[in-house]
Amino acid sequence: MTKVSARFLTSAAQPSDFPPPSLPEVAVVGRSNVGKSSLINTLVGQPGLARTSRTPGRTRLVNWFQIDDRFHLVDLPGYGYAQVSQATREGWRPLIESYLAKRTSLAGVLLLIDIRRGVQDEELDFVPWLEERAMPVVVALTKADKLAKNKRVLEVARARQALALRKDPVAVSTTSNEGIDALWRAVVQLSIDSKPARPARPAKPA
Ligand code: GTP
Ligand code: MG
Repeated sequence: MTKVSARFLTSAAQPSDFPPPSLPEVAVVGRSNVGKSSLINTLVGQPGLARTSRTPGRTRLVNWFQIDDRFHLVDLPGYGYAQVSQATREGWRPLIESYLAKRTSLAGVLLLIDIRRGVQDEELDFVPWLEERAMPVVVALTKADKLAKNKRVLEVARARQALALRKDPVAVSTTSNEGIDALWRAVVQLSIDSKPARPARPAKPA
């Protein structure tokens, strides 16, 4: 894998704190605890970059990471974790939704699904929502190391069919590194294919 330089840029608890759009962005989206932050760390080869946890709901802010001087990876809070309070969930939803619906520099979405859970209602709603907006999506099935090879192949086919994807989702694991190189290439491609970001307002000088 090509070595990249990745650094934490900023985080935001509300849309007014989002940084001005500049480089193209690839947003990492998925259920709480699906492995978003771990995957970002593995993709860029920096174990401590994004904070991970066994406790679902770890990432409560939108976090921006800059990859070389080329694009941003954006770690969004996870959806669908029943144990967090209603109030907390109601606080995240607008944050995630306003990011996805309004971010002018958004180049594509990396949607993660736990390979053992498979596609659920949220993903069945979300993928068509992205397609209506002509937003490119790459789907990855996480924690592939938890299933035997024959089951992995089966789950890849099931997810593709359930979401009517044009390509197979990528089965990935941050412990075995399965699928990591292929997924990284797909993520970089999303950032390259995007139109140049058009800042809503001129970026403020640093
Ligand atoms: P939130 O920020 O809470 O939404 O979670 P997240 O989606 O960022 O998940 P995170 O990366 O924090 O990982 C959640 C748990 O899954 C941690 O205990 C990780 O070690 C574990 N995990 C992540 N990826 C893998 C994987 O590929 N294989 C295995 N076996 N465990 C993984
Ligand atoms: Mg996280």
